[in-house]
Amino acid sequence: MSKVYPIFRITPDRSIIKVGDLAVQFENSRVRQSQFRYKSSYLSSSDSMELCPVFAPLTNEVLDFKTPHLPGFIDDALPDAWGRSLIAVSLKSRYLSVEQLLDNIRGSFTGDLLIGKPGLVSPEINDISSYNLSGIKDLEDLADKQWLDMALTGAAGSGGARPKLLTNDRLIKFNKASDKIDVCEAEHACLELCLNSGLTDTPPSDIIRLGEHKCLSVERFDMSEQGGRYRLLTLNALLKQPGTNQDPYHCRYEDIADIIRKHCVDPDKQLRKLLTLALINHEVKNTDDHLRNFSLINRGDGWALSPAYDIVPSAETGEYHQLTLSGKPYLVSLDDHEDAGEALGINSDSVATKVREGLDWYACETLANRSLR
Ligand SMILES: Nc1ncnc2c1ncn2[C@@H]1O[C@H](COP(=O)(O)OP(=O)(O)OP(=O)(O)O)[C@@H](O)[C@H]1O
Ligand SMILES: [Mg+2]
Repeated sequence: MSKVYPIFRITPDRSIIKVGDLAVQFENSRVRQSQFRYKSSYLSSSDSMELCPVFAPLTNEVLDFKTPHLPGFIDDALPDAWGRSLIAVSLKSRYLSVEQLLDNIRGSFTGDLLIGKPGLVSPEINDISSYNLSGIKDLEDLADKQWLDMALTGAAGSGGARPKLLTNDRLIKFNKASDKIDVCEAEHACLELCLNSGLTDTPPSDIIRLGEHKCLSVERFDMSEQGGRYRLLTLNALLKQPGTNQDPYHCRYEDIADIIRKHCVDPDKQLRKLLTLALINHEVKNTDDHLRNFSLINRGDGWALSPAYDIVPSAETGEYHQLTLSGKPYLVSLDDHEDAGEALGINSDSVATKVREGLDWYACETLANRSLR
């Protein structure tokens, strides 16, 4: 059985434009294969922008994905474990097929894509500011009727496994009962470290309380000033296996650097950002540096590495990083920054200086906070 899902984009000036159609052939509710075609009026419009520079360049031709995996630029816009579990609750279903998922997502999540139900002509941008989040006492409340609607229309739709809420301008992440450390505080500290290590576009974050829960509230970097959206694409989507759309099993920081060199504006600047992230990930022991935790962003002026997100120290000892750099089993330390720079093809001196300044700032900040206690 085949279904056609209209694909829309929310532009930075907050208009909604139809980009094209995704035709999916299902077998027992599982994807058998899919095709995507840009609408000709989109191709000729001044707002046209490729959905993915690797797998969906702007073309009149039908893009064929003869594989049971959806293309990464669609997959990226779907809710992950957390959003899917809420949809399953709403359907009172133990399991959730990709067909059920595509048929039951509502609204847009992070980034600019909006996947419509078959036949949808004019979707609306879901407004999440009108909900009074302070009424939430517990995460389980989200499965209640009162909140479930909010959760399904976007609030819980962002990617990732951690429970979170999406509002018009913030991403709110919760600690999990199984966490061994206070992840919200730790991530907040890491984002501040990034900000003070030369990654000046890192979004501001705060620790807030919702009911019983301590949460990390981060400003969204995919929103324009007019309340429109910017295009986001994870490195996972860009590095899927051509022909099969399978996720890569083993990847390197060098693979991200190759994508940056091929597709980004001012690649040297983006490579310095990537090196900063690699050095910080080593210093704070963020071993969860997988490809969905790196994204490219396009604000209408070309592709660039997105601001930093999901940088959290691992509570385990002796864990390998998800990505390798310079062929070593552990990430390169700050003292060996030249090796890392060489692997990414850039001079690393200024980057290493900034990361040292950030770590010094962090040490002073920690001491100052302790002496105030
Ligand atoms: N500040 C932000 N603004 C806009 N989008 C963001 C922001 N931070 C994260 N995202 C998007 O939301 C998604 C989920 O965020 P994040 O990776 O922080 O959550 P997570 O649940 O901890 O993920 P993981 O499963 O890796 O632990 C990311 O893949 C990214 O696309
Ligand atoms: Mg993540």
